[in-house]
Amino acid sequence: MSTAVPTSPKAGKGAGAEVGIALLGYGTVGQAVYRLLTENTEDFTHRIGGPVAVRGVAVSDASKPREGVDPSLLTEDAHALIARDDVDVVVEVIGGIDYPRELVLAALNNGKSVVTANKALVAAHSAELAEAADAAGVDLYFEAAVAAAIPVVGPLRRSLAGDKVKSVMGIVNGTTNFILDAMDSTGASYDDMLAEATRLGYAEADPTADVEGHDAASKAAILASLAFHTRVSYDDVYCEGISSITAEDIEAARTAGYVIKLLAVCERFTDDAGVEKVSARVHPTLVPRDHPLASVSKSFNAVFVEAEAAGRLMFYGNGAGGNPTASAVLGDLVGAARNKVHGGRAPGESTYANLPIAEFGDVRTRYHVDLHVEDRVGVLSEIASKFALNQISLSAVRQEEFNEGARLVVVTHEASENDLAATVDAVKQLPAVKSVNSVIRLEGE
Ligand code: HSE
Repeated sequence: MSTAVPTSPKAGKGAGAEVGIALLGYGTVGQAVYRLLTENTEDFTHRIGGPVAVRGVAVSDASKPREGVDPSLLTEDAHALIARDDVDVVVEVIGGIDYPRELVLAALNNGKSVVTANKALVAAHSAELAEAADAAGVDLYFEAAVAAAIPVVGPLRRSLAGDKVKSVMGIVNGTTNFILDAMDSTGASYDDMLAEATRLGYAEADPTADVEGHDAASKAAILASLAFHTRVSYDDVYCEGISSITAEDIEAARTAGYVIKLLAVCERFTDDAGVEKVSARVHPTLVPRDHPLASVSKSFNAVFVEAEAAGRLMFYGNGAGGNPTASAVLGDLVGAARNKVHGGRAPGESTYANLPIAEFGDVRTRYHVDLHVEDRVGVLSEIASKFALNQISLSAVRQEEFNEGARLVVVTHEASENDLAATVDAVKQLPAVKSVNSVIRLEGE
């Protein structure tokens, strides 16, 4: 068991005291945070128990004209802003890892509470950030880091603190959900729908972090850590993106009654030796069309949680964008500022369970394997025997004429990644198998 040593809660500044805020970053999210905070000052004063005042806004070029902000607040010296005695809470909405890490650590070490929307930073450096927050007795909030406006960090940290979470499964990247949903509804190719997502402003100029699953993997690490009271970092998450998904895969899924989604899947399970383990993975996944996650369309996000006592819960909404992300940041800001006024701390990192992270090869799920094969006597039984040799039971087999041969789709019962990989290798060696078109995992049945 890990032994976090909580610092005694610091006394508050006292009811009615002003709380100073440093805003690091003035991009889309920073602007929305600043605007909503300054438009609704009266409400924030009531909710916090004292007024808030923005002491400064750190940007990379303070001479650049910026809309909606008092130019005298702009500064390029983020470190000096953080170090000011009249700053109590630092809001980090810069993005990236190394520079924000330096700033967030400086803020925590300086006794400032921190609110960040930065999933990559939290997923890569949670241990050092949590230790710095504990040592200083301050808060580290990051609701906006996972699925923006959708409250999921708070529910896992607080509302479900008395329950035992079994799994968390979510659509946590809006760009890839937009692309897959558009491919499903139009029959278009991945490249065309990526171009459409770029044209509409969902996809970044460099879409790699979204389409290759890295953004979702950071969120999966955060969700798994919270759900299982175990430190799971970005490097622990298996990650596969959507760039190899074809219009044919989408059509085959539709024919079989599924939709393809990029899912983050976090699970707690007991292995064959009776050891309880956790796993976190991100990959394209077949989801039955009647599953609640199947109906999550466009760029929306949803997180499906299964807990022992609560049963199944689903959180749904806007997972990106300036205002939705600012909503989560400001919710955290109210919590951090309230603690500065009245004293006390929000729940910190909880890693007491410290469960081992499963090897990916031991993770079990179901698979949809799409093959191009020769259409002659005995082919099906040759292929089926390779599955049987690896103890994989088949749940459905479908065949249709295809390109001077047959297209054979095999759906399995639950099997381990290792067994499935060995089977696919063996199937590929069969002379009757022309190609393995795709292997897509299946969840939610
Ligand atoms: N780029 C992300 C998405 C939002 O498309 O959902 C920020 O994590």
